[in-house]
Amino acid sequence: VLAIWHQFIKNEIPELSKCSVLMRDRARVEETIYSMKRTGPSGLQVISDFDMTLTRFSYKGQRVPTTHNILDNRLLIDEDCEKKIKRLLNTYYPIEIDAQLSPEQKQPLMVEWWSKVHELLIEQKIRKNMLERVVRESGSRLREGYREFFDLLSELQVPLLIFSAGIGDVLEEVIRQNNVFHPNVNVISNYMDFDAAGVLQAFKGQLIHTFNKREGALLHGARLRGRPNVLLLGDSLGDLNMADGLSNTEHILTIGFLNDQVEERKESYVKSFDIVLVKDETLEIPNVILKNIL
Ligand code: C5P
Ligand code: MG
Repeated sequence: VLAIWHQFIKNEIPELSKCSVLMRDRARVEETIYSMKRTGPSGLQVISDFDMTLTRFSYKGQRVPTTHNILDNRLLIDEDCEKKIKRLLNTYYPIEIDAQLSPEQKQPLMVEWWSKVHELLIEQKIRKNMLERVVRESGSRLREGYREFFDLLSELQVPLLIFSAGIGDVLEEVIRQNNVFHPNVNVISNYMDFDAAGVLQAFKGQLIHTFNKREGALLHGARLRGRPNVLLLGDSLGDLNMADGLSNTEHILTIGFLNDQVEERKESYVKSFDIVLVKDETLEIPNVILKNIL
């Protein structure tokens, strides 16, 4: 009977059979989706990372800029600063995605990366009123299917928490310009602190980097109570901590985008996320799952 039941559920989500979709335990994934469906939209919340999760990793053979990289525009930073930021990226990004290093080993190095870049940005006296134009001129791109994703959650009043180690002001501008900054969207991120003249003078609050999302979640998690089912989307193993601190969760389904260093990281991603999407630049699978639940 169970086998027939599984077959029945399996047929409901044929997209999960694609070869870019990896699952440690497909039956558990399907059971979780079914359980979430029984509770319905009123019991669901979605927590998602932003850079390289809601945005594409690459487009037409070029890397899509992260919220930090969007600021790489001569309107905001000079050539010397651009070079320094590129050098830091070339040093620290390989560490961020290194399959051999543990999150604990990466943590202090990520703090170094973020702090150095934020200091450089402050030195450049970035002006708030330039952000809109800089985002517009950037090659930022949300994943294919983003409109359906955001609109669906908004229509059913499912809260969407975007939890990003990027720059909140830039992130908000990206989703605003794509017309998907709906009222159900909340953002936890690194926000710029501008002085009265609109010049960047500091970053607000505690720094969020890729591997300390647990602390951020514990700090901000309280307001997410009351929705026991969680769909979590990320592209880094550090993103799995975004749901830490939630109390009374019933079902958590985690989806991980594996964009880079695929062979090196495949095993650990399949071990850690319920669903792994390999080099998939779309939100097709999250959308299919949502339409199943909602
Ligand atoms: O939204 P998310 O948490 O993914 O944002 C963090 C991402 O921004 C990291 O994955 C990192 O690669 C990237 N980053 C960057 N430049 C920095 C710091 C982080 O592109 N200076
Ligand atoms: Mg990310």
